[in-house]
Amino acid sequence: MIILKTPMEIERMRISCQLTARTLKMIEPHVKEGVTTEELNDICHQFIIAQGGIPAPLNYRGFPKSICTSVNQQVCHGIPGPRVLREGDIINVDVTTIVDGWHGDASKTFSIGKITPQAEKIVRIAKECLDVGIRAVRPMGRLGDIGAAVENHAHRNRCSVVHEYCGHGIGRAFHEEPAVLHYGRPGTGEILRPGMTFTVEPMINLGARAIKHLPDQWTVVTKDHSLSAQFEHTLVVTESGFDVLTDLDGEYEGAAAAY
Ligand code: MF3
Ligand code: CO
Ligand code: CO
Repeated sequence: MIILKTPMEIERMRISCQLTARTLKMIEPHVKEGVTTEELNDICHQFIIAQGGIPAPLNYRGFPKSICTSVNQQVCHGIPGPRVLREGDIINVDVTTIVDGWHGDASKTFSIGKITPQAEKIVRIAKECLDVGIRAVRPMGRLGDIGAAVENHAHRNRCSVVHEYCGHGIGRAFHEEPAVLHYGRPGTGEILRPGMTFTVEPMINLGARAIKHLPDQWTVVTKDHSLSAQFEHTLVVTESGFDVLTDLDGEYEGAAAAY
């Protein structure tokens, strides 16, 4: 069952989503050579608590930390720990907050110092895949329009799309229906209706799409050890298009008017 949110509920979700976005902005200057992923976790944890939020990943299905940090060939769900970031690394920081019972979920891939052209490519294509997915959202459109747009952009650029993990409805629960696949066919799947809230969060690999888990049972890595990158936003379908609730600086403002 897809839970449609009322305008008042959307405004409550926006508060959590904006804290998520502010956490990602706050952590950016700390994501530098020499820092450990655990230090990034602790800074985010303290910030979220100080702002009146709760970090949703902590103890979620047994996850031991407050954010996910996924480095280089790690696809998602990396557990913060003693690993020290080095020049040339790329790292996805995935933040989910709960404020007043409502969730906000977003992530971003950062670069450490100078990175290789290949790393630059996968980060750029992953961001573009998020953007084409978001911009495919329109009321009375279909969920499959999003996946098709993402998949098409990845394949045009000879990158692959991870199938095992997807975007998701979000609200009072971290993960709700529908599953937002990052591949598919236009004009298929659920109808997008105003008040639907979900994430778009494509995981894009430089090599093949196959993944495996590390022995920690959480960290997902590419099977061929190729680089992977991801960006994520939480958005709501509106009467005229979409509203990106985790957008902090108006990057997607006015986009809905295009429809
Ligand atoms: N934030 C992730 C997502 O985008 C989920 C992390 S679940 C955790 O859906 F348990 F690993 F934190
Ligand atoms: Co998510
Ligand atoms: Co997330």
